Amino acid sequence: MEKEPITFPDDFIWGTAVCSHQAEGHNVHSDWWEFEHQGKIKDGAVSGPAADMLNRYPEDFALMEQYGYNGFRLSVEWARIEPEQGRFSEEALLHYENVMKEMRKRNIKVCLTLYHWVLPKWVADSGGWTAPGCVRWFQRYVRRVVQRLFPYVDLWCTLNEPTAPLFAGYVAGVFPPEKRSWPLACRVYRNLLRAHVAAHTEIMQESEKLGADKQPLIGIAHAINYVEPRNPDNPVESKIHEFFDFMHNRVFVESMKTGCIPFPFGIGEKIHGLAGSYSYMGVNYYYRMTLQLPKKWPPGDLIDFLYVEGRETTGMGYESFPPGFYEVLKYMSGFDVPLYITENGCADADQDDVLRRRYLVRHLAQMHRAIKDGMDIRGYFQWSYIDNFEWLYGFEKKLGLFALEPGTLNRIPRPSATMYGRIAKNGITPGLVREFAPSVETELWGE
Ligand code: FCB
Repeated sequence: MEKEPITFPDDFIWGTAVCSHQAEGHNVHSDWWEFEHQGKIKDGAVSGPAADMLNRYPEDFALMEQYGYNGFRLSVEWARIEPEQGRFSEEALLHYENVMKEMRKRNIKVCLTLYHWVLPKWVADSGGWTAPGCVRWFQRYVRRVVQRLFPYVDLWCTLNEPTAPLFAGYVAGVFPPEKRSWPLACRVYRNLLRAHVAAHTEIMQESEKLGADKQPLIGIAHAINYVEPRNPDNPVESKIHEFFDFMHNRVFVESMKTGCIPFPFGIGEKIHGLAGSYSYMGVNYYYRMTLQLPKKWPPGDLIDFLYVEGRETTGMGYESFPPGFYEVLKYMSGFDVPLYITENGCADADQDDVLRRRYLVRHLAQMHRAIKDGMDIRGYFQWSYIDNFEWLYGFEKKLGLFALEPGTLNRIPRPSATMYGRIAKNGITPGLVREFAPSVETELWGE
């Protein structure tokens, strides 16, 4: 049988993604910078110059153009823009404006995240997302950004994976501010939703003021993974599954639709302006969680609940499970707005990145299946463009299409960098699969 190439819509966005704290370097007025310097990161790492995108962005955008990527997701760093309360840095705003101009020049579409887990130190010192003024402060910062950058942005992402700073920062206590308090977590939940509404309001107002000809695309990048019980007949494992699925995947997204705060974060109270305050949904999909009774007691981490034995895992220890991507896209399509894959990717430290190539092709094939089945998916941002500061893991985990040469920080493409650009251009062809990921050929086209 003839093996048909797997092709994608012509106007599809083929992007890559970073968070600026992780890639730009020297975000010195932030809470994470302080946290890193307290020795909280694996092997005592600090973000330092990170991938030095702060200085090398022109070279980076030239590379993206050369490799054929036509989208880029990045964040603006609040700590750079407002290093002290009420003092806005013209230098930082100009920097981001120059970054956007450079992307324009290279025909790269911009997905801009306004909050990707990092706060200015002054906000954190005043109580972070639990402070009574936090939403007001966030709104004022967003206003500055929007007034300056509105014309350059194609896709606004107000918050990145809000459940991560919530659970890691206020329940597990492993991210700043290292709290373990349910009442505080509930306050953060509410304030993050309110922060999203505030940002949505600012962007809409600016759009109206400028008489923009189309509605701005505004959404959140949600962490949604595929969750299942190891043994559905075991009532305890089934309950664990339901609980994780709700808390990890569904609670925040469903709040955006209903406009309410559900139990256990609240008692159904409404947040003004929240219901339907999005015009796309961002999906960050990485892995399958097969949940079982914890391997050790008391469980310390999510990992203690995961069953991965004998399965294909990535460099993060999570299971690579492409069919789960399809299921997650199906669930997210239920919100009746276009979807953008704001993150998907694989840790693979090998310069030859065989694992990443397999992961990428298999996940993109599932995305294609979803599009073919009628789901409205408009773009994909591969995490990540380049190796960067991976939070608690420091620089140990390598998620980049490009590696960093130690010492010089020169950009070294991995084979997946070329492969991804070729997929962006021609789709997934049998020739490409034979060259880059031969082990996947039968899965895609049969014998
Ligand atoms: C996501 C984060 C991103 C990066 C990837 C690997 O959860 O949004 O910053 O750490 O995981």
